[in-house]
Amino acid sequence: MITSDALSFPAIEEDIWRFLTAGSKHPKEAFYTGTLGTQSASGIELRMVVLREVNVDEKKTICYSDKRAGKVAEIQKNPLVSWLFWDSEKRIQLRLSGTATVEINNQFTDTHWANTTPSNRRSYMAIPAPGSFLDHPASGLPSELDTREPTLEESERGKMNFAVIVSTIHQIDWLHLGSKGHHRAIFNYENGVLAKFSWIVP
Ligand SMILES: Cc1cc2nc3c(=O)[nH]c(=O)nc-3n(C[C@H](O)[C@H](O)[C@H](O)COP(=O)(O)O)c2cc1C
Repeated sequence: MITSDALSFPAIEEDIWRFLTAGSKHPKEAFYTGTLGTQSASGIELRMVVLREVNVDEKKTICYSDKRAGKVAEIQKNPLVSWLFWDSEKRIQLRLSGTATVEINNQFTDTHWANTTPSNRRSYMAIPAPGSFLDHPASGLPSELDTREPTLEESERGKMNFAVIVSTIHQIDWLHLGSKGHHRAIFNYENGVLAKFSWIVP
């Protein structure tokens, strides 16, 4: 619950980044998953992703993808992204917006890859690219991996498709739905530093 004492910009901003960080570490946290929005030629594309890491100092959020996925090409064409989170217990919505880069096959992605499990790595092991049309329902994985996890050695085959999407956040729109009234605030960042904040009408 948000009390009037907690309605201060520093407290709210600290909570935002603390809750996002908790989400990136624990699957049971509300902010473990978020909706990532990108722009495609035909409109806005939204999809759920797992929030893998948060860099509070640099105001960055990180998720993983197959480098062949639609979102990767969309970001490479237009780096503007949005993230949407909702915590139903805290009754807090977060809308983050910023610009993203896609990291592929470099030291940075190697470090992230090293932290993934064979089970996670299945996501990058489809033989046809994600989004390819099929004439029957199938996972796209090599058939033996439909029924078991890859071994550590097999899972290395996913590495060539692994991409890390790094979003640098420029604005956060925080909304709290309170039983005694809603509150909303905007935080703007420039080069990772809080530059402006304001209350706004919810
Ligand atoms: C709960 C949940 C978590 C997901 N996490 C990811 C993820 O971390 N990365 C990812 O690329 N896709 C993830 N997906 C799949 C995406 O939502 C999406 O279907 C897929 O990435 C293809 O999207 P695209 O064609 O827009 O790239 C997740 C889906 C769900 C339902």
